[in-house]
Amino acid sequence: MFALSGRLNWRSLVSHAEDTEGTRRDFLYYATAGAGAVTAGAAIWPLVNQMNPSADVQALSSIFVDISGVEVGTQISVMFLGKPVFIRRRTQEEIDEARAVDLAELPDGVARNANKGEVDASDENRSMDEAGEWLVMMGVCTHLGCVPLGDAGDFHGWFCPCHGSHYDTAGRIRKGPAPENLPVPVAEFIDANTLKLG
Ligand code: FES
Repeated sequence: MFALSGRLNWRSLVSHAEDTEGTRRDFLYYATAGAGAVTAGAAIWPLVNQMNPSADVQALSSIFVDISGVEVGTQISVMFLGKPVFIRRRTQEEIDEARAVDLAELPDGVARNANKGEVDASDENRSMDEAGEWLVMMGVCTHLGCVPLGDAGDFHGWFCPCHGSHYDTAGRIRKGPAPENLPVPVAEFIDANTLKLG
């Protein structure tokens, strides 16, 4: 795992990531569409929201991701439309923790799931499958756009060190300045080993 500070462009980040050995739960990963850049999920990547993806990246409206190698308790990160997407295969403990949360405690009570519309932020409405094993969401902090760290924070999910936002194991904001849950992009399983984004 590594930490970066200051403003970096994604090419320097990817280069750094390629030189860095992955940790137990963060893997370098290549999207099958080829245009998906590679990064480690634990990198700090400031101000992603202010970065403009190139025209060729924007034109790639969907990508197919091979998830066959994702072990339980790990996540991969892929690039989609110029931004990182976290794909996590959660443990039963992570699922149980997310599902035990009283929704009244959530700072943002909306699922922010592009696949489900305006529904509450229950874990069932955030995860990809009924059992809740798969969680897919944009890896961009909803405060000012840093990339949160995985397996971190007070709620055992993600932590954004830029200004101290804590997300739980469902990617819901629980503490800190971020106003919203990490958004779930349009996504669907094509088969047991393939996830389509977009
Ligand atoms: S950008 Fe994440 S807490 Fe500010």
